Amino acid sequence: MSLHGTQKRVMAPDVTALKGRGGIVALTSYHSHTAAIADKYCDFLLVGDSLGMVMHGYETTVPVPLELMIMHGRAVVRGAKRALVVVDMPFGSYEESPSVAFRNCARVMKETDCGAVKIEGGRRMAETIRYLVDRGIPVMSHVGLTPQSVNVIGGFKAQGRNPEQLAVIEEDARQVALAGAFALVLEAITEPLAARITAAIEIPTIGIGASPSCDGQILVMEDMLGLSPRVPRFVKKFGRIGEMIEGAIRTYSEEVRAGTFPAPEHTYSMKVGSGPSAGRTRAADLKATKKPKTTSS
Ligand code: KIV
Repeated sequence: MSLHGTQKRVMAPDVTALKGRGGIVALTSYHSHTAAIADKYCDFLLVGDSLGMVMHGYETTVPVPLELMIMHGRAVVRGAKRALVVVDMPFGSYEESPSVAFRNCARVMKETDCGAVKIEGGRRMAETIRYLVDRGIPVMSHVGLTPQSVNVIGGFKAQGRNPEQLAVIEEDARQVALAGAFALVLEAITEPLAARITAAIEIPTIGIGASPSCDGQILVMEDMLGLSPRVPRFVKKFGRIGEMIEGAIRTYSEEVRAGTFPAPEHTYSMKVGSGPSAGRTRAADLKATKKPKTTSS
């Protein structure tokens, strides 16, 4: 069961209603063109703060500013006509207090027209989730590996691999679900933990490196397309876009250097019977303005 055949814009409760049916499909998306393509196949698109690393070359998601999320959020909403668009709240924009979180989340929703926001953190964010949901902001939660806490965790490591950690993450999941989150991202956790959480809570779990035992899956689009140079082990590359881009650019550079591009079909010709400058090509214009070469002796 999925929402991808429906015409109307998917809303947060539509995603919640898929709990227990499996097969919820999601991808990250950062710009309009790819959003328009993914829109045909995904139930929701996440404008993840991973865009800081994938698109802007940051080492972690910590430096990502709110304005960048808003800019990419707008682009994705323009491209995706049907899927729910969820925008990630960046580090520092929601942790301080429920009211600060509300101000920034409301700004994101008003300025991007997205349908929901995502915030990282388990029980420590439960009060904020309740506060936001009570005031009209649908919240997707995110536990397990929470990349914004990379400096505390000490790296991008799988979580919940011992019984103590497992119990903490399971309780985090219960509390965000009780607080009113409409769905929960589980990142980089073991299958037994993902299965326990999925069975224990009433909202859908969306796994990224969290096994098939979740209600749905999400991947970073550039990772699954084969564009990202390094990817976590849980990523399957469904495409070889990086190699295709390099091949195309290599051929372009070879053809420009060999003088075989642009060919006649890429070049404007003169229009018969028009004035002296009608139909002039850019190349002709450039030629006309070029100064003759002088030789120095
Ligand atoms: O920022 C992101 O891309 C995410 C996904 C990993 C779920 O939060």
